Amino acid sequence: MALPPRFLEELRDKVPLSTVIGRKVKLTRRGHEYTGLCPFHHEKTPSFTINDAKGFYHCFGCGAHGDIIKYLMDAEKMPFMEAVEHLAGMAGMKVPESSPAQLAQEKRRGDLTAIMEEACRFFQTQLFSMGGERGKNYLIRRGISGQVAKQFRLGYAPSGSALTAHFQAKGFDIKECMNLGLVVRNAKTGRLHDYFYDRVIFPILDRRKRVIGFGGRMMEKGEPKYLNSPETALFHKGEQLYALPNAIETIRQKNEVILVEGYMDVIALHSAGFTNAVAPLGTALTEQQIKILWQSCDEPLICFDGDGAGRKASVRALNRALPILTPGKSLRFVFLPDPFDPDDMIRKKSPEAFAQLIKEARSFADVLWDTLTVAHPVDTPERMAKFEKDVRDTVALIQDTTVRGYYQKDFKDRLWKLTHGSKKGRVRLAGRRILPIHSPTPGLAEARMLLAYVLCYPQAAEPFIEDIATTRLPDKILNDALQEMAALILDMPEITSETVINSIQPDIMHLLSAEIEMLKRSDRETGEVSREIGRMLQQSRIQAIQTEIAQETERYLANPDPEVWENIKALKKEIEKLSESE
Ligand code: GTP
Ligand code: MN
Repeated sequence: MALPPRFLEELRDKVPLSTVIGRKVKLTRRGHEYTGLCPFHHEKTPSFTINDAKGFYHCFGCGAHGDIIKYLMDAEKMPFMEAVEHLAGMAGMKVPESSPAQLAQEKRRGDLTAIMEEACRFFQTQLFSMGGERGKNYLIRRGISGQVAKQFRLGYAPSGSALTAHFQAKGFDIKECMNLGLVVRNAKTGRLHDYFYDRVIFPILDRRKRVIGFGGRMMEKGEPKYLNSPETALFHKGEQLYALPNAIETIRQKNEVILVEGYMDVIALHSAGFTNAVAPLGTALTEQQIKILWQSCDEPLICFDGDGAGRKASVRALNRALPILTPGKSLRFVFLPDPFDPDDMIRKKSPEAFAQLIKEARSFADVLWDTLTVAHPVDTPERMAKFEKDVRDTVALIQDTTVRGYYQKDFKDRLWKLTHGSKKGRVRLAGRRILPIHSPTPGLAEARMLLAYVLCYPQAAEPFIEDIATTRLPDKILNDALQEMAALILDMPEITSETVINSIQPDIMHLLSAEIEMLKRSDRETGEVSREIGRMLQQSRIQAIQTEIAQETERYLANPDPEVWENIKALKKEIEKLSESE
């Protein structure tokens, strides 16, 4: 219910904060303020202060800050209206009645919410009924356990017009069902039918866990792959984030949120323990969504798909956030290897590999700098000048003066380094890719090193050549290269590094230049390299088994098949054996 702002102001004026907080916290007067031990975090010396005149509290220890209503909501866990009524009681004031128009609006909202809830339950029931087999099999195929399906309230919309019939039978207001985009009228026949049919349903909940919309995925190839509820009185796509109510607690706790592109990405991440993942609703990230994320976390991680579209979407998010950066609030960017999305990373690589990429998230300033340098060769005075002007114009877009000031300084330093660096450095920087194609993961870094070893020390690799030939690297290009080298060495056990280098794709040399350079400089002996290769192969095998265990465990949770369990046990034993022989 909306209360008149004047009423709330009066309430704040009439009840001193210190009276309310003083009931729980021992307060000491200090000038105009009170201090005491903070009720929001554990401390031994007081850093919590209350200013009755200004009507707010602030803790210098944990940053808790708010007015009397926020205090009651946070410290005494009262819902908003209860806090207001509690204070009105203390102040001897009466909470104003809502206007008839307001009441009518609230009633309608309640009715609409009830329809959405009914639809959600209907879809959920369908998924677990005989008719929902198709949906259930699809989810199993995508590795989603029954438990996760329940947690996200996933459902299935059957073919035909079952939901419309259900609403009619139960006497729901069909007009409102149409307004909510659940029932549509066929323009030609005039018949009513379901908006969602033969789709897996992802309900979209608001912060108070009320169902406000749905996304529906086709199970076969076709268009549109996802069908989302239209904009309705309840559903405004640009103001909501998928799974925010599921994620909010972890987001607050970790001061970290992972923003991904799709529903399936969110679900895969939550299943793998990244319970702070959310997604926009199939549209580009809006300013409002960025601000919602900033309410509960300082530097949201943007983790879009590794393909070209995902990279473009990252740049779009960057441009959207640039003008509204404020002190302490920014974005960071996680880049996945092309063409992986987070769901692929978790399932085809491993949760650990994904966690590593999160650790390597790049700062807003770094990514912004990349987007600027990629477009500009800075090899002549005119081009340098143009570049400097573009940098200045871009930074000028930042509205907050403090943040803008620091960007000016930081980018001036970068510019200086760029224009005063070696000519070679300049050209290289100018030609650099906007965003890395292969972000290193522990798996990837190891794979590159392994490849470099084989390339530079084929003799040291020879004893392991069978193992090498069956190794699967987490990247297609690297994997193909490894197979090619293994074949060469199998053919010619006496092969030299020069011959290997001359026989493989020149691109590979380029890809591994850093590793090769390092090996050349360290000048190791063959026996030592050999042991190193053996250790790496063993590690990567353990890694592969761990991924398989994770997948099998997921499968087992979805459907507890004793055979799967036996397999998991055997895999675990294998890891033990491998670790022992280390
Ligand atoms: P999967 O193919 O099921 O793994 O989907 P995804 O989650 O990887 O989604 P994808 O990257 O293809 O798209 C990201 C998001 O964009 C989806 O979760 C939807 O919200 C939205 N989206 C995708 N395809 C369509 C479409 O055809 N129409 C609409 N309106 N939205 C779509
Ligand atoms: Mn996907």
